[in-house]
Amino acid sequence: MPAHIVVHPVVQDALTVLRLNTTNAAEFRRNAARLTMALAVEATKALPLQNTTVETGLGKASAQRIDDEIVVVPVLRAGLSMLEPILTLLPTARVGYIGLERDEQTAIASSYYSKLPDQIASAHILLVDPMLATGGSAVAALDLLSDLGGSHAVLLSIVATDQGIRAVENHHSQTTIYTAAVDPTLNEQKFIVPGLGDFGDRLYGTD
Ligand code: PRP
Ligand code: URA
Repeated sequence: MPAHIVVHPVVQDALTVLRLNTTNAAEFRRNAARLTMALAVEATKALPLQNTTVETGLGKASAQRIDDEIVVVPVLRAGLSMLEPILTLLPTARVGYIGLERDEQTAIASSYYSKLPDQIASAHILLVDPMLATGGSAVAALDLLSDLGGSHAVLLSIVATDQGIRAVENHHSQTTIYTAAVDPTLNEQKFIVPGLGDFGDRLYGTD
């Protein structure tokens, strides 16, 4: 299974606040950021490092820098909640955007926007979308990235399902998923149960 469930206490504590149906939009945004920060630490722990030497003022120190071009790609809208905390960890990363929206009746995702940096083909890509439900959106985003040559992607999600994970595995087997939870099922509208509701609506106070 290409999914890692991140059980770090900060991740699980923040997830509980996100799941609570009484959490308001401000608290929801704050905890999405808190969770993402800890999730992203885990998802980036194997980034390659390059050895270097720095002058501290008191002498030379052996040091290391991240040795990879990194592109963070939030899937609009909900993925935007995960962007700033990742850029706090990886301030030199480039950012690309993919806009996808599920049809309310069919739950099939269609693309309405994309703007991706030229470096996508060689970069280490962090694709970020908090909900991995049917997997249709994640597969569509990964298809778009791979059409541009972007094949080194990890997917950061907050709540996933087995169906979503399998869809990613079937279409993009080289993509590793980091998530805070794998929930048991989808309802008739293809919402994750128990999940946390419509992430984008809760984030932005829309419905
Ligand atoms: C949500 C979510 C994912 C997608 C997951 O987006 O952010 O992109 O649904 O569902 P799937 O795995 O079944 O494709 P939504 O279409 O609600 O758009 P929004 O982020 O603009 O609210
Ligand atoms: N998108 C959401 O925001 N929530 C779900 O449960 C499924 C898709």
